[in-house]
Amino acid sequence: MEKEKNWWKKEIIYQIYPKSFKDSNHDGIGDLKGIIEKLPYLKELGVTTLWICPIFSSPMVDNGYDIADFEDINPQFGTMEDVDFLLAEAKKFDLKVMLDLVINHTSDEHVWFQKALADKDSPYRDYYIFKEGKEPPNNWRSIFGGSVWEKVPNEECYYLHVFDKRQPDLNWENREMRQELYAMINRWLEKGIAGFRIDSITFIKKDQDYGSLPADGVDGLVSCKEKTRNRPGIENFLHELRRETFDKHNCVTVGEAPGVSYEEFPTYVGEDGYFSMIFDFHYADIDVESGSDWFKRTNWTTVEFKDLLMQSQAALQNAGWGANFIENHDQPRALSKFVAQEFQSADSALGLGAMYFFLRGTPFIYQGQELGMVNAERTSISQFDDISSIDNYARSIKEGFSEKEALRFVNQRSRDNSRTPMPWNDSQYGGFSDQKPWLSMTEEYPKVNAIGNSVFKGYKKMISLRQQSVISDILQVGDIAFIDNLPEAVIGYRRIAKTGSLISYTNFSSEKVAFELEKPINELHFDSHNQTFSGTKIELLPYQSILISE
Ligand code: GLC
Repeated sequence: MEKEKNWWKKEIIYQIYPKSFKDSNHDGIGDLKGIIEKLPYLKELGVTTLWICPIFSSPMVDNGYDIADFEDINPQFGTMEDVDFLLAEAKKFDLKVMLDLVINHTSDEHVWFQKALADKDSPYRDYYIFKEGKEPPNNWRSIFGGSVWEKVPNEECYYLHVFDKRQPDLNWENREMRQELYAMINRWLEKGIAGFRIDSITFIKKDQDYGSLPADGVDGLVSCKEKTRNRPGIENFLHELRRETFDKHNCVTVGEAPGVSYEEFPTYVGEDGYFSMIFDFHYADIDVESGSDWFKRTNWTTVEFKDLLMQSQAALQNAGWGANFIENHDQPRALSKFVAQEFQSADSALGLGAMYFFLRGTPFIYQGQELGMVNAERTSISQFDDISSIDNYARSIKEGFSEKEALRFVNQRSRDNSRTPMPWNDSQYGGFSDQKPWLSMTEEYPKVNAIGNSVFKGYKKMISLRQQSVISDILQVGDIAFIDNLPEAVIGYRRIAKTGSLISYTNFSSEKVAFELEKPINELHFDSHNQTFSGTKIELLPYQSILISE
């Protein structure tokens, strides 16, 4: 059956980090057959689309975000036949599959880069950004630390990498390169995938002056973002990308779009926008001043969080559509980030979940979020795998913090927090594998696991409310309006559609809070803490969230 236009507004998207989801071949690494094994679980939860992080051939320097061949599958994960089988099996469960599209850079093992390195005169040299000179062309710092420039062996020449040195940036100024990417994207879409999450896409245009800026760290370098992220001229590339690929298919496209201001949202997600929706990081990154400098921690308040959330939802509503999330493979666990330690319970996990899940936009759930997982505390930097954790540790120390403080920053923010293997049961290695996993579990015999989990049941309830209930229409397409005059700790919003309206209240603090409703509760649709309410006086426990009709 033909999908309706904007079908993705009604989806619930579940993000899978394949390396940590389920190991089927006893090597301690998750794989495609493992995902297939767990399709019944995903169906039971009720999600409708899966987004699978990169599964393509890769040296795994950045866990697959360094692609060596866009159209070959990493043998750690399986084969192209396994992908075909996964697509076919998912279809039987009525689940759609999205892949990750990483087109700002490739791996240094990509054949284009190999050819570019081997021969100065190769046409592939211009597929990347090479600059001749004895010194690095400027003082930009890469996202994963150190200069963005890496010297080419035996030449007075450097190439640019916004991320790791083994992730050289593609030169989007080169037309042939762009055409090759578009052809590859179209081949994947023709294969029957539902669409893409599009990685780091705001980095594809670089300021062509390649000018230095005043240093912002003791390393004498400056964050490259000001010159490489969402720069003027990017609109031409993004329009072309859409026209040459996505427009030809009724697919979903979700842009990872840090660095885009609210005013620019219409160009990204408006009627003629580049993507179906984008992730907005303004409130997700509230705990650190700048996404990649984890030692620059903030003392954020609930009021600030609420303001950012309101602004973000207003901007998205004004522009088009948003992708709502509280976790992903780059973020710490939400329960650890947002909730005071003594309140990190299953109920609070659900309160936090309900707060964002009923917002206007498509909800994303990151694997393990539906179980109420928390961060994994590590005692030494040697226990981390993620390159940016290792870099942030070293940078914190260079900036003058002690080893203990540096470890604390990394424990709080490490991307490894959410990358630990999925705890399916309480056996050793949590039923993820019968071998020692590639990254240690959050708990080896997990108390938080997928058997009889109350957070899972709560998420299942939220999903069925949004998908198959009398209030589905309001939750899927209703407008949003935030409610003023509430206690500071309470986040309140109305969802309004032709068919009716709903109110969500969340106590986003570790104190009880009481307030008066305008009208008594007519119906309580969801309560993270299972209480009874009557009349107009209401008291919410810490991190409690309710969804009601008046
Ligand atoms: C995105 C990905 C992240 C990756 C980076 C470089 O931010 O989400 O995991 O390291 O891009 O590809």
